[in-house]
Amino acid sequence: MEDTTASTYGDRMAEVYDEIHAGLHAPEVVGPIIDVLAELAGDGRALELGIGTGRIALPLAARGVEVHGVDASGAMVAKLRGKPGGDAIPVTMGDFAQVPVEGRYSLIYIPFNTLFALPDQEAQITCFRNVAAHLDEGGAFLVEAFVPDMTRFDRGQRISAGIVETDRLSINLDSHDAAAQTVASSHLYITSEGVRMYPVRTRYAWPSELDLMARLAGLRLRSRWSDWRRNPFTAASTAHVSIYERA
Ligand SMILES: C[S@@+](CC[C@H](N)C(=O)[O-])C[C@H]1O[C@@H](n2cnc3c(N)ncnc32)[C@H](O)[C@@H]1O
Repeated sequence: MEDTTASTYGDRMAEVYDEIHAGLHAPEVVGPIIDVLAELAGDGRALELGIGTGRIALPLAARGVEVHGVDASGAMVAKLRGKPGGDAIPVTMGDFAQVPVEGRYSLIYIPFNTLFALPDQEAQITCFRNVAAHLDEGGAFLVEAFVPDMTRFDRGQRISAGIVETDRLSINLDSHDAAAQTVASSHLYITSEGVRMYPVRTRYAWPSELDLMARLAGLRLRSRWSDWRRNPFTAASTAHVSIYERA
């Protein structure tokens, strides 16, 4: 998947993103996220890296927080603009690794594994460094990501069923490169109208590697939970919500 760029995922996904992830828009999912983010933003501004269709930014803005965003995909941002309140959120188009915005924020956040959309370790370190340069004194950088699980793969591959209905199927194909810590995936969505392909390229990192990237950027871990309800992070956690601050 050498031909993928920062906008490939969003441009392909925009039409179906909210439908496929309908469960993630549910108030019981979004509510605890907004509680955490609003508390961290306080009276300051918040910046979402990979703002997408506004799943989180819109309810956060509705809570009274000034929210800005960065995204590479015009198609995803067009979906955000089409929603009530979507026009009022300033979005900078570009690669979020560069954090291409003016000024500082009390909160910069990157939910839903989106940090792993950056293609390699170097780009992820660059992102941490640029985030640090845009944080207020006392500001927070929040990362939500999965904990890598090598048992998902059998000899570097995984094929799994998603939707299995009479007239609708989805199949996920993953190819794992353990040396580069990358997974090249294609989600196939099959209906009587044909097959659509949604490519996703992920460069994963363990929480400990993210902590090291933070140190390189002059940040340190303030808290880590296993979810947005602030449950403790343990060896059994499959995901984490990590908050970094200036060291
Ligand atoms: C999984 S979606 C998450 C959207 C939103 N944050 C949410 O939680 O629903 C990832 C978003 O990041 C954007 N994205 C991926 N890589 C990017 C990059 N390098 N620079 C800017 N945006 C990027 C995609 O276009 C997409 O909108």
